Amino acid sequence: MRYPLVLLIPVGIVSASLTFFAPRDNGVKVVSTSVNFYDFELEKSQNGEQLYAMWCADCHGANGRDFIQRKWKLGSQQDDIQRIISNGYALLGMPAYGDVLDPNDIEDIATFLLDKASESPQFQSAPPQLIQASDLKLRANVIADGLATPWGMDFLNDSTLIFTEREGNLWAIEAGVKLPIRGLPEDFHVKGQGGLLDVMVWNDPEASTPWIYLTYSKSHPEDDKRSATAVIRGTLNRSDEGFSVPHWQTLMVATPYAKTHRHYGSRLAMGLDTMLYVTCGERGMRDVHPQTLETYPGKIHRLHPDGSVPSDNPFVNSPNAIPSIWSWGHRNPQGLFIHPETGAVWTHEHGPKGGDEINILKKGANYGWPEITFGRNYSGTIITRDTAKIGMEQPLHYWLPSIGACGMEVVLGEKWPLQWQNNLLVGSLSFEYLERLALDDSGRVINREKLLKGIGRVRDIARNSRGDIFVAVEGAASILHLEPIIED
Ligand code: HEC
Repeated sequence: MRYPLVLLIPVGIVSASLTFFAPRDNGVKVVSTSVNFYDFELEKSQNGEQLYAMWCADCHGANGRDFIQRKWKLGSQQDDIQRIISNGYALLGMPAYGDVLDPNDIEDIATFLLDKASESPQFQSAPPQLIQASDLKLRANVIADGLATPWGMDFLNDSTLIFTEREGNLWAIEAGVKLPIRGLPEDFHVKGQGGLLDVMVWNDPEASTPWIYLTYSKSHPEDDKRSATAVIRGTLNRSDEGFSVPHWQTLMVATPYAKTHRHYGSRLAMGLDTMLYVTCGERGMRDVHPQTLETYPGKIHRLHPDGSVPSDNPFVNSPNAIPSIWSWGHRNPQGLFIHPETGAVWTHEHGPKGGDEINILKKGANYGWPEITFGRNYSGTIITRDTAKIGMEQPLHYWLPSIGACGMEVVLGEKWPLQWQNNLLVGSLSFEYLERLALDDSGRVINREKLLKGIGRVRDIARNSRGDIFVAVEGAASILHLEPIIED
């Protein structure tokens, strides 16, 4: 199957017209009482085969080719397959047949596909993981697997996911096919926590092609032992050869370059104010960067989409201050999202042994690291006894012990039940699960729940405009799509 999404439209039209010629009880023989069970099964399978040839072979190949040795993405049980045929799976480019085929026919096709899959002795099944949350059942569908270290995700549109691998690759998943995006820079510093980090898509209303923004740890041009968090952007090209970004502009380099390989921060988000927010970690130099306005690390920056500095940034008139700084006193912020309804800029940051925190950013605010913290050094020794100081913000929430927070999104949209609306999802690197946090109206955390326990280091979470939630996992080297199962 290498069919781009555009093909769905003509297929849809063909489907609609074929309905008239393929009614269920037209060509199929009536089962007489003398037909034994075996014949009945055979007939179902033949019916499935014929229907497959008529409806599915265009995309999936003749005689069930795609399903031989199938490693199922969306479930290998009869029920799973029937559900996919009936509802479709737009995210991967699979159309829905619930309105054009009757349930018995769908059952027959599913039987045919399962027969095909089991034809091969190497039949592998990967049933979706069913997750039982306290108040909801979820299915975790595998959208991509066998990855290196997936780090950042965003969407070109609702059914095309773009993601980075820290090792230096950028991919698009279009109609279920993983395609490389070529033309990347070559100065990634892939060491320690460094490499190609976040990705963001921005559809500039005034341009015809989308912008791709990347953050990465950039090697110093003359000394590749040193690196700095950098932000670049370029326009995405789509041609017969595939995706590429022919030219990149550098928008920001979070100088000074440093020899450490950690705390790059690096999350990107476009605000409702059409400003780009970029998180920069303090590079493991807590006594150098977070409490001065004269360097980039340990800050969250705010830029125009083209990288220029907005005139209403808080420190534009302070002598020696880096003018792109929006907030300061940060350790390693690796979670960032803009609430699509309120426009609030939510972040979290990775504390030491304790003291991961969630904050809603305020213009010019100092979040206190390392002068105030609820955390301790990894060795258990005290960093400071101070948890509050005048002029420094208190976190909205903090974790003790640290979960190793990475990636954050808010749950929204009609797919999700009421009690999930506005919940936060946060990845845990240390304990390898996805955390769900329920907040009250004032934004205080009132409930925490562990999902996907033991899945691996959860690196990023993304939500498309339809409310679909995606989770990038390092251990499982995969990207999962979480699908709520709402039972009637
Ligand atoms: C327009 C092209 C198209 C048509 C027509 C189509 N499919 Fe698909 N289908 C897809 C794509 C694309 C995927 C995602 C494939 C992937 O990720 O490998 C998919 C996925 C599936 C899956 C999920 C497989 C898994 O690994 O879990 C099933 C089952 C399936 N199709 C069955 C059918 C059946 C049965 C028909 C005919 C009634 C059909 N498809 C018609 C494009 C199509």
